[in-house]
Amino acid sequence: RKKQPLLPSTYGSFKIGHRGACGHRPENTIASFKKALEYQVDFIEIDIQMSFDGKIVVFHDSTLERTTNGKGRVRDFTYEELAKLDAGGWYDERFKGERIPLLSTALDEILPFSGILIEIKHPEHYPEIELVLAHELKNRLQVSFASPKVMVQSFNITSIKKFHELLPEVPVGILIKHTPKGISNKALRNYSQFASFINPKRTMMNEKLKQRIQACGMMAFTWTVNNQKQIHSFEKMKLDGIATDFPEYFSLNEKNN
Ligand code: G3P
Ligand code: CA
Repeated sequence: RKKQPLLPSTYGSFKIGHRGACGHRPENTIASFKKALEYQVDFIEIDIQMSFDGKIVVFHDSTLERTTNGKGRVRDFTYEELAKLDAGGWYDERFKGERIPLLSTALDEILPFSGILIEIKHPEHYPEIELVLAHELKNRLQVSFASPKVMVQSFNITSIKKFHELLPEVPVGILIKHTPKGISNKALRNYSQFASFINPKRTMMNEKLKQRIQACGMMAFTWTVNNQKQIHSFEKMKLDGIATDFPEYFSLNEKNN
């Protein structure tokens, strides 16, 4: 299967707004995406799951309690029911009335202005999510894309491989949690068969790992970096992508503060 080449960002690292700009706005809401766009991010990272009636929604947790006024599992509610919940009031009164967006709404809001990095969350709960996602993106790719503005990632390698088989035009990457043992060269060579980027947690990332990932023909990203000094040091290291809740910390944006 061919892999889609990624174009480098204009000055080095892709600036990735985590769940939008969730240091300033309720995560994974339109308000959060708009805030990230103010900082001219290259990509907005979002998390996706599925409603009971098979709609892809933008939401981080598998349950509703932390970030809405609802209770229970996302997958047990239709989209009509999910859309009635308040997804902003938990963060601040000012954002009361923010809704759980559909993926299609997020694509409409984000794609005219920046790229989008979609994380498939808990794919083990949603056996068809890769298929539905590929279908939804394919419709869009036919009408609007000349160069990749959508990337897909997951901690779940089976899910990412499955999605790649369905839609190889979209670059995919693997999220990696901190593991004391690190990532073996064998694993990196394996991933490079289908992945365009590897996205390890910031506590694992260093010059050596970056070089090992790039030597396998993949880009090296990291998440989630909320310390300004650390962002600058990763920029200096020429990492290919950095995700943060505070996109104003990226070097090019300092003048906007
Ligand atoms: O961009 C990677 C990061 O989003 C993974 O962790 O929990 O924030 O989805 P989480
Ligand atoms: Ca995520």
